[in-house]
Amino acid sequence: MKHLIVYCHPNPKSFNHAVKETFVLALKQKGQDVRVRDLYDLNFDPVLKGSDFAAFQEGNVPEDIRREQEQIRWADVITFIFPIWWTGMPARMKGYIDRVFSHGFAYVMDEKGLRGLLGSKKMIIFNTCGTPEDVYIRSGMRKSIEQIFQEGIFGFCGMKVIGHKFFGAVPTVSNDERAKMLEEVKRIASKMI
Ligand SMILES: Cc1cc2nc3c(=O)[nH]c(=O)nc-3n(C[C@H](O)[C@H](O)[C@H](O)COP(=O)(O)O)c2cc1C
Repeated sequence: MKHLIVYCHPNPKSFNHAVKETFVLALKQKGQDVRVRDLYDLNFDPVLKGSDFAAFQEGNVPEDIRREQEQIRWADVITFIFPIWWTGMPARMKGYIDRVFSHGFAYVMDEKGLRGLLGSKKMIIFNTCGTPEDVYIRSGMRKSIEQIFQEGIFGFCGMKVIGHKFFGAVPTVSNDERAKMLEEVKRIASKMI
């Protein structure tokens, strides 16, 4: 299968970086075809601009958006890896969605109503957060985040979310706990056929 990994974290020493490296290696060991889009390495511009709207209206797609859309077209499975910041996505990740998941590419809204256009794509999400998992589950925050990402964004585009893994309390748990989390990342990769 063709796997596109969209990764967003500025720190190469972060746990998200370890998740990305572990997932990519495990997929490659399974013989999967893997491409990585590291949004900080790419210096991806996350700001949806007036010039983008003007280009779309003229039937043009700005070059940096077109490049990312090509990557998405190529993939069977798309995996997003990012930390939870202020109960949502890092701004750069959100801006990637604002610009790349554009009308006419990811969804269409016309007289027939609203349709997602990425129905052939499967989706996996890896999220990390500082809050312990049980605290977010009890408060309902976990459900809210799941609903926004799974239904509000990816489901809206017709994508099938086949996995959404949260790792809680990442900065404060022991190294052993973090190693177990990475084992879970490997296990998820090993299920890909
Ligand atoms: C700007 C910023 C906002 C954050 N907001 C949240 C938050 O809303 N909820 C939470 O549980 N943790 C929050 N955190 C903690 C991070 O999610 C946590 O440190 C990260 O997931 C750990 O993984 P990393 O080592 O890859 O950064 C925030 C961290 C930063 C830097």
